Amino acid sequence: MFRSKRIVRAMIGVLIAFGITACSSQTNDEILEEENSDLVVIGFSQPGAESAWRVALTDSVKENFTEERGYKLIYKDGRSKQDNQIKDIRTFIQQGVDYIIISPIVETGWDTVLSEAKDAGIPVIICDRNVVVGNENLYTAFVGSDFKTEGESAVLRLENILEQQEDEDGQINIVHIQGTIGSSAQIGRTKAIEEAIEEHEGWNIISQDCGEFTKAKGREIMTQVLEEVGADNIDVVYCENDEEAYGAISAMNEAGVSYGKDGEIKVVSFDAMNTALVLCMNGQISVEAECNPLQGPYIYNLVSRLERGNAVPKITYVHEECFVSDDLTPEIIEKRRF
Ligand code: AHR
Repeated sequence: MFRSKRIVRAMIGVLIAFGITACSSQTNDEILEEENSDLVVIGFSQPGAESAWRVALTDSVKENFTEERGYKLIYKDGRSKQDNQIKDIRTFIQQGVDYIIISPIVETGWDTVLSEAKDAGIPVIICDRNVVVGNENLYTAFVGSDFKTEGESAVLRLENILEQQEDEDGQINIVHIQGTIGSSAQIGRTKAIEEAIEEHEGWNIISQDCGEFTKAKGREIMTQVLEEVGADNIDVVYCENDEEAYGAISAMNEAGVSYGKDGEIKVVSFDAMNTALVLCMNGQISVEAECNPLQGPYIYNLVSRLERGNAVPKITYVHEECFVSDDLTPEIIEKRRF
């Protein structure tokens, strides 16, 4: 069992009250040692490490909650399973951490474990993706992306690109590679393209499959769709993250299909990791909607305020942009941290 600074303080108070602090020098040393390592303990539960983006989020949180700043971070990777994340959160509760940060793999199914954290008096900060719970008081705050807005920005840039190169038959056939089904990132980005389909006569989703936010699945799906419908019948591949876009691009390279600025198929992607931005600058990816993984400073700011006893906003959206080739230069990309 991890003893947080609050518990250590309480224990010391009890020992002093009973006048037994001097009964054994070893006990005193142990207590002093713990009091010296008077760190705020944070349990951080990530769903997995499926993408470079997620590694950047993990790094950002780790960089901010350092021992130099007075924190001890316990990191757990849920290996792509909600059950593992729930177990990890229960372990944090047993350890008596001071705060829990959760990036939830999917939106639903958290009510019970969040109630357990609440009963234990541990504030929970949801980051990256959101949760849908019966009672919003089960968590203290959310910091992360507005995925629907990301999707809408991407669709807007796509509309502009397609307007400039009128399709011969007026039909826009879209291959849609989704992220982990039930995650906020998938739900928001999917909603945006599905609404666009409703609004645009001639826009059709000809294939919709889950790419699990991975390159391997993105490649597998695109290879199969190319075989089934042929490149001539595809105008857009809408990938719900960069890993899937890398996979789709590698499938198109293998099949000898032209894509991007000078090709038939336009690639839309999300995250805007540096590697993908270079592809976007060079015209291979047509639209890159940013998903900002540098959430550590935002979460740090919230926890600092809570530590001082101040109120915090329930929802904080991180700053995000959307890029096409003309927005990018090597200097802009170099300056970015992910
Ligand atoms: O929740 C954010 C998404 O999850 C990112 O787009 C993706 O790369 C990650 O795995």
